[in-house]
Amino acid sequence: MANFHRITPDQLRSRYWFDNPDHAGTTALCIERYLNYGITLDELTSGKPIIGICQSGSDLTPCNRHHIDLVKRVKDGIRSAGGVPFEFPMHPIHENVRRPTAALDRNLAYLGIVEVLHGYPLDGVVLTTGCDKTTPAALMAAATVNIPAIVLSGGPMLNGWRGAERVGSGTIIWELRKRLAAGDIDYAEFLSRASDSAPSIGHCNTMGTASTMNSMAEVLGMSLPGSAVIPAPYKERAMVAYDTGTRIVDMVWEDLRPLDILTREAFENAIVACSALGGSSNAPVHINAIARHAGIELDNDDWQRLGHEIPLLANVMPAGAFLCEEFYRAGGVPAILHELQTAGKLHGDALTVNGRTIGDNLQGRETQDVDVICRYNDPLVNHAGFLNLKGNLFDSALMKTSVISRDFRERFLNDPNDPEAFEGKVVVFDGSEDYHARIDDPALNIDSRTILVMRGAGPVGHPGGAEVVNMQPPEALIKQGIESLPCLGDGRQSGTSGSPSILNASPEAATGGGLALLESGDRLRVDLKRGQVQLLIEDSELEARRERLAQQGGYRYPGHQTPWQEIQRSMVEPLDRGMTLEPATKYRDVARRHPPR
Ligand code: FES
Ligand code: MG
Repeated sequence: MANFHRITPDQLRSRYWFDNPDHAGTTALCIERYLNYGITLDELTSGKPIIGICQSGSDLTPCNRHHIDLVKRVKDGIRSAGGVPFEFPMHPIHENVRRPTAALDRNLAYLGIVEVLHGYPLDGVVLTTGCDKTTPAALMAAATVNIPAIVLSGGPMLNGWRGAERVGSGTIIWELRKRLAAGDIDYAEFLSRASDSAPSIGHCNTMGTASTMNSMAEVLGMSLPGSAVIPAPYKERAMVAYDTGTRIVDMVWEDLRPLDILTREAFENAIVACSALGGSSNAPVHINAIARHAGIELDNDDWQRLGHEIPLLANVMPAGAFLCEEFYRAGGVPAILHELQTAGKLHGDALTVNGRTIGDNLQGRETQDVDVICRYNDPLVNHAGFLNLKGNLFDSALMKTSVISRDFRERFLNDPNDPEAFEGKVVVFDGSEDYHARIDDPALNIDSRTILVMRGAGPVGHPGGAEVVNMQPPEALIKQGIESLPCLGDGRQSGTSGSPSILNASPEAATGGGLALLESGDRLRVDLKRGQVQLLIEDSELEARRERLAQQGGYRYPGHQTPWQEIQRSMVEPLDRGMTLEPATKYRDVARRHPPR
């Protein structure tokens, strides 16, 4: 246990608002309105830590909605440890519903949390998380403000079932879309089968972005060990809500802050664990963003250097066969970390919210079921992390190698002289509407060797960046049994997708990236071994195209629909830099800025 200097009640940040005789008038104004619903003067002025609870659950955010009930146990924990809880809302972020995309709201929610944590009388905060972007928004804000903070995930849903078959959230949609396109099922059957994947409260039960990012919060040391993937309905979920409440009060007294925990070692642990989990391709975006707000330079080269060699240990969809309920029973995140530590791949001395190191927390936490969480030396896939590809069209694009299927290998990576490379003719789409309008057009001549390219889908081209790069082949090809083609794009893809697309190409077409210069019929060479994607034309031709595009005023994309879209587009950074708001990344430790401590 780390030895913390304990602060005294007069050092509590909330004293500035609630116990400040030098400013009697303003203090009275701060206090009196909280009394009007029954809070007592004693609670506000007798030196109890005031603990915020950032409530991400709402009717608009069904994946997090049970936090509305769970928060009662958080408050019980806070009270029992001598704190006073104050609940406040997070801007809703629901992944599948928000248009144009939920990712647009990550930075908006971040800004909102920062302002609340900075501007109100809070000594510490419990950040409730779940659906994809709620977790990074909360962690980014915790890093910026740097008051004691702890993350409480809502947990995944129970396993989905269709008869004896597991049905995983999101992952089933990608499968059913192919079956719908092939004519095997109709729309009613599609909806019925899709709803099998959502049998209970909680977030996606696959290792999509939600389970990945909540696991990342635990690996970073920001939530209690073993808590990330407790299924939402389990009794242990309410128990850990209580423990989270008690623990945040102690963290205030210990003055244990996010920037004590979010160190370079913690982020390197996150990269390594993400590979072993088969985590979402959105994780590098969010982890790089959290790191930037914590003042740590982390980039996609770090992801390849540290993460690519790590094997896949979690046998969870979309990379594996099981779902998060089984993953939890097999030992969850601690069992993954235990394997990584045994293999010497973990910084064991990184600090966590319980005041112990991550290594200390792992004692006795080995895998309980090697079918679900494999041993490091007997993994599901070797070299399961991301490749950071580069070339004459972009500086960085990610490929999740754990999901390259045998079929894909046989069709594209089958040259005995060069087994990690392939070449193909491209067909280019400008945004998902263009894709849907034209994909089945026979004039495109898409065949089993075509590379589908999506552009205009980055954070500027499509505000927030669209999850659209994993494009399905034309119906005619699916009916012939060709269920996937290589895809490349400047947008993202859902973490629940098992497609080995080349994603997040940065810079994006809309900000001068080379994908804007691509034309259907061009040939691309993808060389995974050398980490290269090259457009096979002369440099002079590429330059001529660049000049023509500049004369036309650059790559065109749809206009703004809302004020926030315009504001975000004016200052958002590329996906490889975390899609952060550039001016926000210079703010550090804002809780200590005047006036409050
Ligand atoms: Fe909310 Fe997947 S849609 S967690
Ligand atoms: Mg998603």
